[in-house]
This record gives sequence, structure tokens and C-alpha cells, in this order.
Amino acid sequence: MGIDYIRDFPEYGPEPEPERPKRFFVLGRTADIPAGKIRRYVVSGLPVAVFNVEGRLVACRDRCPHMGADLSMGRLDGDFVICSWHGWTFNLTDGRCRFKDWACLELYPVRLRDGFFEVELPVGA
Ligand code: FES
Repeated sequence: MGIDYIRDFPEYGPEPEPERPKRFFVLGRTADIPAGKIRRYVVSGLPVAVFNVEGRLVACRDRCPHMGADLSMGRLDGDFVICSWHGWTFNLTDGRCRFKDWACLELYPVRLRDGFFEVELPVGA
């Protein structure tokens, strides 16, 4: 018994956030995140999860759209991250949730420069 966090959660999500200006921030060295690993960063108060998906760095806000868990505490499975709280699963190629259409991750662009990686984030988040 109990709550089925996939089936029982309502079919709507939070209001979309307004557009804000963005810029790239240097977060670390590419070697800081080995393949299959996840790291958490905080930039001006914004928590950011960075995933190494088979050599490709992917970044998003470090907050599960379901109930707010840190996605950086989740588990990588191929192109997917599985949230540690209730198992919602997100595709890191497009941010889509396997279970709820509205629960899409906002992926942040990542670029590599001279052994470092930079993530494009909203300014004043
Ligand atoms: S907080 Fe429930 S699945 Fe992430």
C-alpha cells in the first residue's frame, strides 16, 4: 500500500519560470567528473548537477521536478538519471521524464575549453 509516486502524482507541474539573461560560468576541469559520475555545484545560489554520460558532460538544475530531491544524489543508467527519492527517471539527452510529460529537466548548455568545462546559467538566479 502507500503512495505510488509515479501513478498518484497529479498531471500538472509548476508554472514555467520567466526568461532571464544567461552567461557561461567555468565550473571545473573536465577531468573532475569521470564517466558515469555526477557532481553538484552551486553558482550564485543555483544548485547545478553535472553528469558525465559516457564522456559527454550534461548539466541541469540540481532539483527533481517531482518533489525537489537533489538529482546529483541520483544514479546514472546510460543516458538516464534516476532520482534517489522515488525513482523518477529523466533522459539526459532531452530532459524528458519517463513518467510525466510536464516533468522535464531544464538542461543547461555545456562547452569545453582548454581542459575546463563551462555551463550556461541564468544570471541572478
Ligand atoms: S523527488 Fe520524487 S522522484 Fe525525485
